Amino acid sequence: MSAIIGKDIELARKLLENNRLVAIPTETVYGLGGNALSLKAVSAIFEAKNRPTFDPLIIHLSNWESIKQYVKNVPETAQQLAQQFVPGPLTFLLEKKSIVPDLVTAGSSLVAVRIPQHPLAQQLLQSLDFPLAAPSANPFGYISPTKPEHVFQQLGNKIPYILDGGFCQIGLESTIIGFPNGEATIFRKGGIAVEDIEQVIGKVKVKTLSTSNPSAPGMLKSHYAPRKPLLVGSIPYLLAEKKESRIGILSFHQEYTHSSIHHQITLSPQQSLVEAARHFFDALRQLDTQKVDYILAEWFPEEGLGRALNDKLKRASVQP
Ligand code: TXA
Ligand code: MG
Repeated sequence: MSAIIGKDIELARKLLENNRLVAIPTETVYGLGGNALSLKAVSAIFEAKNRPTFDPLIIHLSNWESIKQYVKNVPETAQQLAQQFVPGPLTFLLEKKSIVPDLVTAGSSLVAVRIPQHPLAQQLLQSLDFPLAAPSANPFGYISPTKPEHVFQQLGNKIPYILDGGFCQIGLESTIIGFPNGEATIFRKGGIAVEDIEQVIGKVKVKTLSTSNPSAPGMLKSHYAPRKPLLVGSIPYLLAEKKESRIGILSFHQEYTHSSIHHQITLSPQQSLVEAARHFFDALRQLDTQKVDYILAEWFPEEGLGRALNDKLKRASVQP
């Protein structure tokens, strides 16, 4: 099988209705979509991604109102957040109804739900009478895809269709928020900054890096990782350390000069974290294909989307 890349919503709908998988564009990253209510489709997602079944999936709906079909109750704080950020890059962890298969939630009583705003994702979801389970459309543990070609490179021989919605505008996965014991808690930093959420509902908890506890959402430590070793820290220092090697650089806004630099990507000369986030995964992929021994990156300012970016760097890196 070799996937077709196209914009045919009707074809995508038919495939999904037949329990096939379709890669779908969202504003965050591309998702590997399948009927969330079909065990056959959901099993195929885990298999195509080579993803362990203890790592649960997000379900995607076209509108906030239909969430009531899948979750038992919606806390007031979730409602407030939805008013501000739905549709968009925010995922809600809520008590599931029995209609949601246990395979989707890895046996948890909570289900992760998101309403994407990408126009093609919206059109597709509106045409379906079931939600789409959709993890990021990358093999388990590798860098998330932000272009149709990224999906094709890695899953092109496993799925029939990739719905082409262009380059993902946000470029980082959704922020995941849950409400354990009524306390708003961010489980994955993503496309909506913690500060923006706090503007709406006040101070929230942020669940920090856990090592290898798979029951903690989005928290597997080795994640988003390129195949080349990624070292994070002061670039001039790391360059001095690795001066005998061929180096790829991923910098925020500054350009570096050094004889060992073989390839360099500067994410945002304007120092915009939003722009940096948009290009981050694509840049990591590009560097990963270069003939370099190491990829060196620097920390982002720990604010706004910089916090999510730093989190990705932490999970993708090895110790210098
Ligand atoms: O932006 C996104 O969220 C993208 C697009 C395609 O929507 N999707 C995405 O899915 O990033 P995925 O599967 O790569 O990451 C979802 C994370 C997983 O790490 C999983 O552990 C967590 O969400 N998650 C999903 N359901 C959960 C649940 N019931 N309880 C705890 N964590 C859950
Ligand atoms: Mg993922």
